[in-house]
Amino acid sequence: MKKIDLDSSSAYSLLNPGSVVIVSVGDGQRDNLFSVTWNMPMRKDPGMVAIVSGKRHYSYPFIAKTGELALNVPTAQMVDAVLGCGTVSGHDGVDKFERFSLTRQSAVAIKAPLVEEAFANLECRVSQVVDLGASSLLIAQIVAARVDENHYVDGKLVFDNGLELLHHMGGNRFCVSDRVLVGKSAG
Ligand SMILES: Cc1cc2nc3c(=O)[nH]c(=O)nc-3n(C[C@H](O)[C@H](O)[C@H](O)COP(=O)(O)O)c2cc1C
Repeated sequence: MKKIDLDSSSAYSLLNPGSVVIVSVGDGQRDNLFSVTWNMPMRKDPGMVAIVSGKRHYSYPFIAKTGELALNVPTAQMVDAVLGCGTVSGHDGVDKFERFSLTRQSAVAIKAPLVEEAFANLECRVSQVVDLGASSLLIAQIVAARVDENHYVDGKLVFDNGLELLHHMGGNRFCVSDRVLVGKSAG
């Protein structure tokens, strides 16, 4: 196998991340959405997640003020909304819910609205902020979560009902996962 060398600023893209998410923020009066590829689960119990957010994003002061955000997990059908929420800024006075035909849904535990079209929503409260210069790593505890019952059976995601998850490959490129492979144990 012939391999090409990459510098460290390109190498991160080789680690295909989990699903891209649309993060929603809000203070009860105004709200906003932005797309986030750099997200990951960090702890199971209590459930904790982390995202990286640019400090210049319109959304950032909402998170700093409320300490709250929601991760809305889109299906592949929402690819244009995901790209749109990640390329248009609230700094330009855009209502991204309206612009990308998304519906606000009230959250259970936080002020930010959820994206109804997303197949799963995780409401989170930020517990730790790690300064990364132009961005921050936001570590947050999941305080409420809901998922489309058609795609979650016996505590597991299922793809039988046409679920297609969206993974961001950089720029405007995405790939889709739509099936489960069950590995055989060596033991
Ligand atoms: C698919 C996609 C994924 C993105 N992932 C991230 C990310 O992980 N972290 C981040 O800070 N910005 C990310 N961005 C950029 C922000 O979503 C983008 O700058 C957005 O317009 C910020 O919105 P706001 O200024 O309205 O808050 C991503 C953009 C796209 C298109």
